[in-house]
Amino acid sequence: MLSDAIGCIGFSWAASPACTELETIVLDWYAKAIDLPPEFLAEHKSSKGGGVIQGSASECILVTMLAARTQAIRTLKEQDPNTEDSAFLPRLVAYCSTEAHSCAEKAAMISLVKLRVLEPDEKGSLRGKRLESAIREDVANGLVPFFVSTTLGTTGSCAFDNLVEIGPVCKLYPNIWLHVDGAYAGNAFICPEMRPLMAGIEHADSFNTNPNKWLLVNFDCSCLWVRDRVKLTSALVVDPLYLQHARSGESIDYRHWGIPLSRRFRALKLWFVMRSYGITGLQKYIRNHIRLARRFETLMRRDKRFEITNDVRVGLVCFRLKESDEINQELLANINASGRLHMIPARVMGKYILRFCVIKENATDDDIDYAVDVIEEHATEVMLAHYEGTEDEFRAKGPKSPAALDKKLVRKFSFTRSVTRDVYKRSISKSSLHDGATPIMVVDDNSQVDTIEEDVFCNSR
Ligand SMILES: Cc1ncc(COP(=O)(O)O)c(C=O)c1O
Repeated sequence: MLSDAIGCIGFSWAASPACTELETIVLDWYAKAIDLPPEFLAEHKSSKGGGVIQGSASECILVTMLAARTQAIRTLKEQDPNTEDSAFLPRLVAYCSTEAHSCAEKAAMISLVKLRVLEPDEKGSLRGKRLESAIREDVANGLVPFFVSTTLGTTGSCAFDNLVEIGPVCKLYPNIWLHVDGAYAGNAFICPEMRPLMAGIEHADSFNTNPNKWLLVNFDCSCLWVRDRVKLTSALVVDPLYLQHARSGESIDYRHWGIPLSRRFRALKLWFVMRSYGITGLQKYIRNHIRLARRFETLMRRDKRFEITNDVRVGLVCFRLKESDEINQELLANINASGRLHMIPARVMGKYILRFCVIKENATDDDIDYAVDVIEEHATEVMLAHYEGTEDEFRAKGPKSPAALDKKLVRKFSFTRSVTRDVYKRSISKSSLHDGATPIMVVDDNSQVDTIEEDVFCNSR
């Protein structure tokens, strides 16, 4: 609100020195807080690096891929100066794992380069040997590896790629730019005990994490640090007369670090959060979420009907009933339709899983216990619906639970978005809203849950 109220449009350093310089300062603060190597700091004497706030992790990956592409083409051009830049594109190849976020694929699409998507190990972690053999094969086929996009905290199951192994492989090929995407989990590195998960970060050319995903900063705020800022800006510099100013040589102009020219005063958001909570307050917040995720894991492990499918390291717990994908899909659909809890599924290593992520600022043990109760109740109901024996036999085995959705609604509620009660009611008769992201109602308080279920069931029949 404040950054909008100020109405600053930081085209260049000259347009708003404060907007630019505060961004450099808070990015250095944050880099130190998560213990990034000093080469990523702008203030460090020998450093060629620095940080910038982008609108999204997708933009971070896109601009670093563009920078890497420019470097690779420059090298190829030294050997073949008469060839057009675009003629080198079919030879360039980037890499990521099947668990990487789809924005890596989008970046490759926009950059007009090949993307080789590699299988990670059984824990969802991309390993050095897998990458090395793919690179060797591609080089033997005349391709030019130029970018490796790794992830610390994958979207599906919060797996961590092995940078200790991948880093040295990338170093064997001077054209390769190693990017590390820590969009969600990177924020956890503010806690020293989480830093073993970033082992090997010293090999990275760039790193991004989004405080708007897990550090109490409102959207949008995606922090990107690069080891060599000239390599980034040389892919993105244009300098018309109307944007030039007397201090260009000695100041940072963030318009060269990304796609937009106009920039909001986003650094203020990070500044306020860091100043209000302090590093200790932010560590406390992250630690509470991690503790609660472990509580959830422990409680779910006690119920033998479920399996936990990821190594729970931060705030995400992946689980599923030890049943078919269809039954798990039905379970999630029923839970989301109840409006009492909301989760998003993923398919990891071929299995449909449910993802429970702690996100509420002041979440407590009670919130976790409530969530487990909701999940267990719905699990009982779904399993009853598929039980071969009589209901009495089944009920004798477990607690009573809410009514299940019919098959049609199960399909609709597998992917959901939250809407108000009014919009929900209107949407029931309008197919236009059913766009694959079926609406569910937002409950105002617990007392509404029963009436909402009534609405849902009545309208489904
Ligand atoms: C690991 C990872 N990378 C990238 C993204 C894309 O983030 P953004 O919406 O900021 O582009 C996500 C989104 O969930 C993510 O989990």
